Amino acid sequence: INSREPQLGERIGRRIIFFPLPLQGHINPMLQLANILHSIGFSITIIHTKLNSPNPTNYPHFTFHQILSEFDEYSDILSLLTMLNEKCVEPFKQALSELLGDKSGDPIGCLISDAILYFTSDVAKSFNLPRIVLRTGGVASFLTFAAFPVLLQKGYLPIQDSRLEEPIIELPPLRVKDLPVIKTSQPEKLYSLLHNMIQETKSSSGLIWNTFEELEQPSLTKLRQDFPIPIFPIGPFHKHIASSSSSLIPEDQSSISWLDKQANSSVVYVSFGSIASIEEKDFLEIAQGLESSKHPFLWVVRPGLIRGADWLEPLPQDFLDLLNGRGHIVKWAPQVEVLVHRAVGAFWTHNGWNSTLESICEGVPMICMPCFTDQLVNARYVSDVWGVGLQLENGNLERGEIEKAIQKVMVEKEGEEIRERVLCLKEKASICLRPGGSSYESLKSLKNYISLF
Ligand code: UDX
Repeated sequence: INSREPQLGERIGRRIIFFPLPLQGHINPMLQLANILHSIGFSITIIHTKLNSPNPTNYPHFTFHQILSEFDEYSDILSLLTMLNEKCVEPFKQALSELLGDKSGDPIGCLISDAILYFTSDVAKSFNLPRIVLRTGGVASFLTFAAFPVLLQKGYLPIQDSRLEEPIIELPPLRVKDLPVIKTSQPEKLYSLLHNMIQETKSSSGLIWNTFEELEQPSLTKLRQDFPIPIFPIGPFHKHIASSSSSLIPEDQSSISWLDKQANSSVVYVSFGSIASIEEKDFLEIAQGLESSKHPFLWVVRPGLIRGADWLEPLPQDFLDLLNGRGHIVKWAPQVEVLVHRAVGAFWTHNGWNSTLESICEGVPMICMPCFTDQLVNARYVSDVWGVGLQLENGNLERGEIEKAIQKVMVEKEGEEIRERVLCLKEKASICLRPGGSSYESLKSLKNYISLF
């Protein structure tokens, strides 16, 4: 590090304000980023909603500021995202005004907000406060969102069932079935949300990514052409420094004691993240597939995962009997600890971006079952670009196929290349964080950039 540059750990005398989207898959990376920036010398304030508010006692080194907005209830994700962008404007303005008016601590350098909270752009401008955007997903899926106007113009969108297998020439290797949509009766609402997200990202002072050059180089090159603002890929965030858990549901530690009793690389870890839900018939098919695979399994069945059921009621008794030995079900697991565990041999995932990165970082091959939005793009990259997993193709959730996928990824010769490639990516994810590595250097640039505000 150049001696005139601030050293990575030196205090900067600047406060950064963070505003996470109040959903688990967005809170985790935002708080991890706040921890990273705190560790390199910034003071941190987190503005948050009452909905899914983080636990301040886990972060005694941050200050927290809750905005007054009342919307605990929401019918679906799209409505929540729209409502946040409409109803938080005034309370967020009020919070910024209070924080900027307080002259007692370090001066505020900038706002870092989730890309989806596009309304923060105008508010930050009205205070002359630089706004940096954190996009918590991958670059490839973001570029797909940015291409929506073209995809609409060329007729790929809205998706027609007869064209699902058609390749999208503009975005290889995606097919129509991989387009990151949400099932909704109001697609216009989705297109408008994405349009605003893209526009207000372009107009921001910079863009931070939880990804690394070696993973998404071609996508990052395209991003730099299309978004001529400073871009900082500094991931994987959770591997920079240890941070407290930001889980909204208590993590069941019996996951680890149960794994301790299993053989090396023998367990299939199954989790579909914090939002996805599945039909009861698919849930039962998954259970049957796990049963016939003969592998031990650790399965996160979040309350709300199965549509129309409270929790495990749909499972037949002979499956429940397996839970006394070969299988273990929890409501929420300490996922990163689980993936690090020597007993885990494969991750059956919905390919949320955090889960995808966490699996890569621990060299765990994936069985991909994307549900909606960016997960569809992430899964295609996992299976067809990075070659670190297999995809259970849409409509193919059948016990025999599941059993085959598990065998292939975990045991068979055919899956050997998948297992080797994921170990190779794990190594790259580790190297990029060391001095001289791509994410380390990018973090240094980010630090210098924010220090100048
Ligand atoms: C959502 C979207 O669905 C996802 O596509 C997008 O990329 C981010 O926002 P989610 O579905 O929850 O996120 O998935 P994911 O991105 O994988 O985030 C889940 C987080 O919860 C991960 O950090 C994971 O480690 C954690 N987790 C999950 C647990 O700690 N325990 C669990 O049992 C399950």
